[in-house]
Amino acid sequence: MTTERERGTQPTDVLSDTQRVRASIARAKFEWETTVDALPDLIGLLDSAGRVMRVNRVVERWNLGSITNVLGRDLHGLLHDECAAEACALKAALESAESAARSGEVREFELRDAMLGRALSVTLRPMTSVGEEAVGTDCFAVAIVADVTALHLAREALHALNAELEMRVRLRTDELADANRDLQNEIMRRAAAEQALRRSRNELELLSRQQIATQENERKRIARELHDSVGQQLSAIKYSLERIELALEARIPEAQRQVLRRAVTGLQDVLEELRGIAMNLRPAVLDDLGAASAVSWFCREFAQSYPALQLQEAVSVRDVDVPERLGTAVFRSVQELLNNVAKHSQAHKVMVSLSRRVDRLVLEVNDDGVGLGRNPSPPALRSGRGIHNLRERAEMTGGQFTLSSGDSGVGSHARIEWHLAAAESTKPDGPEVAWRAAD
Ligand SMILES: Nc1ncnc2c1ncn2[C@@H]1O[C@H](COP(=O)(O)OP(=O)(O)OP(=O)(O)O)[C@@H](O)[C@H]1O
Ligand SMILES: [Mg+2]
Ligand SMILES: [Zn+2]
Repeated sequence: MTTERERGTQPTDVLSDTQRVRASIARAKFEWETTVDALPDLIGLLDSAGRVMRVNRVVERWNLGSITNVLGRDLHGLLHDECAAEACALKAALESAESAARSGEVREFELRDAMLGRALSVTLRPMTSVGEEAVGTDCFAVAIVADVTALHLAREALHALNAELEMRVRLRTDELADANRDLQNEIMRRAAAEQALRRSRNELELLSRQQIATQENERKRIARELHDSVGQQLSAIKYSLERIELALEARIPEAQRQVLRRAVTGLQDVLEELRGIAMNLRPAVLDDLGAASAVSWFCREFAQSYPALQLQEAVSVRDVDVPERLGTAVFRSVQELLNNVAKHSQAHKVMVSLSRRVDRLVLEVNDDGVGLGRNPSPPALRSGRGIHNLRERAEMTGGQFTLSSGDSGVGSHARIEWHLAAAESTKPDGPEVAWRAAD
């Protein structure tokens, strides 16, 4: 630290006590100075006028000059060799720290010093008197100046990193918010489209239902007209002709009587036909009794019309077991399915079953005919309206329709299953009806 270390020591055995004491003091001083020189921080002792009395070799490592050159300067002069700046931040800070030290305060500050190109951490610690020696040396304060450039740079890099990270997070958050908004819009758009679709489907269903109801009413009206008006008038005419025949029996020549007979028989046939047509349009039994009776009636009529086809009927439900809302659907389905069997199947046998299992009503029509072919949707299946209407009617009434061929592609199997609402689901206690031939 000072020139005293250059003096060296002499062998102890030839020295006087005073010399030995001095020598050990010198060694201690040398050791202490070497230690202080090895420290990375600049450490200096200031006298009462603020001048540097002692300083470690860091001044040389920082290129501030040799130790002998800097002794006697103030701390600002030591650090800023030729500073002419009026408003030097380091100078102001040092002055303030010095005056604080004078009133016994330790002062620490940090600053970025452009002239040194370093960030400094300065501590000015007043010397507290630890005995006579401290008072005698005129030491006023210890200055510790640490180079904290690396710390500053690291701190700045950390700040920059944090700022960038924050910016990225902000950007990403914005992106996510945008995506979320788009998603919300899309969800809303789809919900609106779905609602519109549902509405138009409902409207379509309503229209279909109305159309079917109108058709059924019209059929009922025509059937009634045919029966009540045309049928009654024809009956009246037949009755009149029979009266004439009876009244003129003896007087009428045989040839004319034959003509009259044929007219009466012809009228009888027309009345029968009329009755058939009216029944097919909408059998009164459907409205008067119910679907189960109507199905049975239709099976009998069908068996009479197609005597070559063996029909087995198993209606195991009573009229009250078929909810009123399903009556027409059940009857029209049997009508269409049986007519299809007659038209397309070339079957020998057909079985019709209408049954109920607590909460469901099941209609099945099976035949042993040619089947529907391998193609699940052969052209013919698409051409007719019957199956299409049947499916639509089933779906509209909450039923499920399936049509398939037998395992080996032979025969066809049609089935409609309706789920019944809780109020409709009374336990059926009707008779278990065995398969029986409709004759
Ligand atoms: N039981 C069956 N056996 C064999 N093929 C059938 C049977 N039922 C229907 N098909 C076939 O399915 C097609 C479609 O039947 P659908 O009832 O829809 O029409 P259609 O009877 O031909 O005409 P529509 O019923 O409109 O008078 C029929 O043309 C026929 O080829
Ligand atoms: Mg058909
Ligand atoms: Zn300065």
